[in-house]
Amino acid sequence: MRMVDIIEKKRNGKELSKEEIQFFVNGYTNGMIPDYQASAFLMAIYFQDMSDEERANLTLAMVESGDVIDLSKIDGIKVDKHSTGGVGDTTTLVLAPLIAALDIPFAKMSGRGLGHTGGTIDKLEAFDGFHVELTDEEFTEMVNRDKISVIGQSGNLTPADKKLYALRDVTATVSSIPLIASSIMSKKIAAGADAIVLDVKTGAGAFMKTEEDAAELASAMVRIGNLVGRNTMAIISDMSQPLGNAIGNSLEVQEAIDTLQGNGPADLTELVLTLGSQMVVLAGKTDSLTEARELLLSVIKDGSALAKFKQFIKNQGGNPNWVDDPSLLPQAKYEIEVLADSDGFVSEIIADNIGVAAMKLGAGRETKEDDIDLAVGLVLRKKVGDPVKKGDSLVTIFANQKEVTDVEAMIKENILIGEEVSETKLIYREIHS
Ligand code: URA
Ligand code: CA
Repeated sequence: MRMVDIIEKKRNGKELSKEEIQFFVNGYTNGMIPDYQASAFLMAIYFQDMSDEERANLTLAMVESGDVIDLSKIDGIKVDKHSTGGVGDTTTLVLAPLIAALDIPFAKMSGRGLGHTGGTIDKLEAFDGFHVELTDEEFTEMVNRDKISVIGQSGNLTPADKKLYALRDVTATVSSIPLIASSIMSKKIAAGADAIVLDVKTGAGAFMKTEEDAAELASAMVRIGNLVGRNTMAIISDMSQPLGNAIGNSLEVQEAIDTLQGNGPADLTELVLTLGSQMVVLAGKTDSLTEARELLLSVIKDGSALAKFKQFIKNQGGNPNWVDDPSLLPQAKYEIEVLADSDGFVSEIIADNIGVAAMKLGAGRETKEDDIDLAVGLVLRKKVGDPVKKGDSLVTIFANQKEVTDVEAMIKENILIGEEVSETKLIYREIHS
């Protein structure tokens, strides 16, 4: 096989065989195929697209390029949840104990990554001593016993995707549906779950800005998942404004605890119940979404989800008493209110820019080397549609520096106040194929 022939075949719009796709992925990963041929090939895919079969084969070839996590020693159907990323998304912290409280295994591998706030692991490290450096045996044992554990990401997961993503970034080939879908799904499939619920975000704070684009990506990922034997579905949800009220690590942990106690923000609670009921159904607990939702509500109400969260924090080295007294979590030195300049209704909270404001305070990483300040962040006091009076607090800034004029200005610019109530929508669609 020669790479030049494979590039030509794709350039001419023909369908590639499994062997040809494997030849490319293996050759590029081990350095036999140079960047210039890989670049030309990616651009050919960008313009000629890929069939479902090709997408599935590309995904599997990337999965096989590195470690594949074996969850077979964990009893039951393992359902994973993946979000395409947004601002202030606290759903995993809430979903994990909820699912586990229903006796469904929640065995997640998680990373740190870049963003407005830290990843799930960074957030959990707000509990002093919490750690995810577990052996495979410890991880398996915890999930079998308590149904819940989070382990740090293996260093050698989908190396082909890492290398290709970096190349796509500099060859204007990131925004290609077959390439995005196979990139995301390769990581999910390598992580070992039997079934996957995808939360594909749409809006200003999302990777896919329009509902149509989000639905196209969701459908591509769902089809790949199902073709390779993982029961997969997707929800399209809103990320035009941040999810919930808290944006910041410690602050989001507090928000997750509130939600587990039944006192969380309405939008976060609703998204958790929507995603959670799909997970409960995929895990085979019931085939009724209504019943699944009732089960989730019952473990919030009887306190067992919160007890599960405490067990989880304790198992991984944190102090579970902090769950009862979140004031023990890292706290910022200063609280500064951002006040409304006029009367009206909040018409927009531009999620991505509000996320950048939180990052400027130190809540997230711009580069891999950055340290995160777990204490800092923002709490939204108003959401889209809420009435405001001049002088009301729009946002509380939690900072470890006294001087936050630039962050304050950025928040004011990105929370718009209009004269009429704006409609909001949280869940757009369910995608099964
Ligand atoms: N996220 C990924 O993991 N891969 C992509 O290609 C795009 C977003
Ligand atoms: Ca939040």
